[in-house]
Amino acid sequence: MAYKDVYQGWQKDPEAFWLDAAKAIDWVEPPKKALSDENAPLYEWFKDTKVNTCWNAVDRHVENGRGDQVAIIHDSPVTGSKKWITYVELRNRVASLAGALRAKGVEKGDRVIIYMPMMPEALEAMLACARLGAIHSVVFGGFASNELAVRIDDAKPKCIIAASCGIEPGRVVHYKPLLDGAIDLAEHKPEFTVIFQRENEVAHLEEGRDFNWHGFQYGVDPADCVPVEGDHPAYILYTSGTTGQPKGVVRPTAGHLVALNWTMKNVYNVDPGDVFWAASDVGWVVGHSYICYAPLVHGNTTIVFEGKPIGTPDAGTFWRVISEHKVKSFFTAPTAFRAVKREDPKGEFVKKYDLSGLKQVYLAGERADPDTIEWAQAQLGVPVIDHWWQTETGWAIAASPLGIEELPIKLGSPSVPMPGYDVQILDEGGHPVKDGELGAIAIKLPLPPGTLPTLWNAEERFRKSYLNTFPGYYETGDAGMKDEDGYLYIMARTDDVINVAGHRLSTGGMEEVLAGHPDVAECAVIGVSDDLKGQLPVGFLCLNAGSNRPHEDVVKEVVQLVRDKIGPVAAFKLAVVVDRLPKTRSGKILRGTMVSIADGKDFKMPATIDDPAILDEIKDALQSIGYAKA
Ligand code: COA
Ligand code: AMP
Repeated sequence: MAYKDVYQGWQKDPEAFWLDAAKAIDWVEPPKKALSDENAPLYEWFKDTKVNTCWNAVDRHVENGRGDQVAIIHDSPVTGSKKWITYVELRNRVASLAGALRAKGVEKGDRVIIYMPMMPEALEAMLACARLGAIHSVVFGGFASNELAVRIDDAKPKCIIAASCGIEPGRVVHYKPLLDGAIDLAEHKPEFTVIFQRENEVAHLEEGRDFNWHGFQYGVDPADCVPVEGDHPAYILYTSGTTGQPKGVVRPTAGHLVALNWTMKNVYNVDPGDVFWAASDVGWVVGHSYICYAPLVHGNTTIVFEGKPIGTPDAGTFWRVISEHKVKSFFTAPTAFRAVKREDPKGEFVKKYDLSGLKQVYLAGERADPDTIEWAQAQLGVPVIDHWWQTETGWAIAASPLGIEELPIKLGSPSVPMPGYDVQILDEGGHPVKDGELGAIAIKLPLPPGTLPTLWNAEERFRKSYLNTFPGYYETGDAGMKDEDGYLYIMARTDDVINVAGHRLSTGGMEEVLAGHPDVAECAVIGVSDDLKGQLPVGFLCLNAGSNRPHEDVVKEVVQLVRDKIGPVAAFKLAVVVDRLPKTRSGKILRGTMVSIADGKDFKMPATIDDPAILDEIKDALQSIGYAKA
């Protein structure tokens, strides 16, 4: 069947389409209907079902004869270790961990925060929660204590599962001390923690509160899978919005299973038993969907890679892993390829490995620049597919669905909408624009199964952030266009979110931190273009009238402050002191104009600008730190 037929089939009868896809899932109570629209514009899928995620990701494969197949490969160049876990081993480990959590009182609906690096135990912790119907929330290791504390106060976990440490090239990340700091900062206190002691750094455990991962499983009964309702939250994943308060994206259980399973064959073109590798992190949505849940639900082998594209030990690591573990589909971020390309532009490392098993490569997380795609195509000789999605959707909004049909690739476009997504480009008044014209990208409601039904404990914020601007549509926060063949082009964010090395960050959140410095009267953070990371944050600081501190000292301090409060992942290293910020007459800071100056792009002088002369000062300031291209 052609893509067009599949898409039209969905358009004709969306419920029948998803009920058909739902047949691939093991239900305790199967769906009688697909969509619940009685609370529109809030929608639910497969609400009348009972199901368990862990059963579908693990146990059923053991029952169906895949017990001896490897479920997880841990390949960790940073610790120099490799490990293989079969489905039967995974089932036993997860059932035991879930049993121990239950013995300590964790039940269906309880929240559990997971703060772990790229080790298989992170997936086991996620699956153990799913087994009990507990709602996990994984926090990325590159966030500092304060960000973790914000998530603890919002999710109010009964328990936190963490590792003693993580390893970044050249340094140990002290997870346990960071966790202790977060618990001190948070108002909500978890009842207990479970700590996986890694050999690289053993952490202090606080008697009565912190339990050893292995020790606390001694003598417990393994737990069976607890059936939950189809709309029960499988997990909460916090993502950046306009302010420093992250949004708790809720993932509904049944739709998540149905949609992710559908994507494995149709988008990623793998069959059960094939090896699938997403080189991301469990702290991000790509890690949730395509390191943990989708490959396992579909009966694939997934790779947990603890390393970097370069430097661990070299720019050939990706190719070694693909060749050694016989990866068929590989998923990474454009920034990772840019890093490899910079070190190995001619692909000398590529030639060292047998990559004949690799059939396709997928890129997402940020705009994939044509140079990078062309370089990857030339090196690897397989389709390199850019696809577009968000934490909120949990799976691709637009892609070239290789398992259905290999569509012609248009560089700069993540191709066409997937079934379930009616994507429209709207003008400010909410009217569709003509093909080729720029506008806000919106998706006609309802969104498909697996996408967010709401934000955790924040329905009003959900409506305000996504539903109110264009009634009847979900507002993606991205701007772009559609061409005459229906291909989408994702050009920019319409909010204050920036994308640094494939990591989604809030400039508003960084501004809140800068504003907390005693010498800073006013500030702005913008995202400027960067050849490696896509974007980089740059801070502009106006100091208090009375401040006579050397500017370099203040800059150093705010850089450290962002690292301490948000974390190293913010990659905030550039700031500059200016006398004034460019504003409109009503006082709005002209961040967009500042970005254009930094990137050397033409811009129209804003009609409402208070004092155009300030723009020259901004340009000088940017030039003083090596930016401002023109
Ligand atoms: N735990 C702790 N710290 C982390 C971390 C983690 N899991 N991940 C990143 N960091 C730290 C880094 O060590 C770095 O710290 P530093 O300032 O002390 O050097 C900082 O956060 C910024 O990291 P990053 O922006 O990733 O830059 P980098 O120089 O370490 O690496 C790349 C550059 C391109 C190799 C890297 O960004 C990369 O692999 N990107 C791919 C991103 C990706 O897969 N994203 C998932 C979206 S699908
Ligand atoms: P995240 O929620 O972290 O996955 O970030 C989602 C955002 O990243 C999207 O809203 C886009 O702005 C950007 N993004 C993700 N994938 C792509 C892509 N293929 N092309 C362009 N932008 C992308």
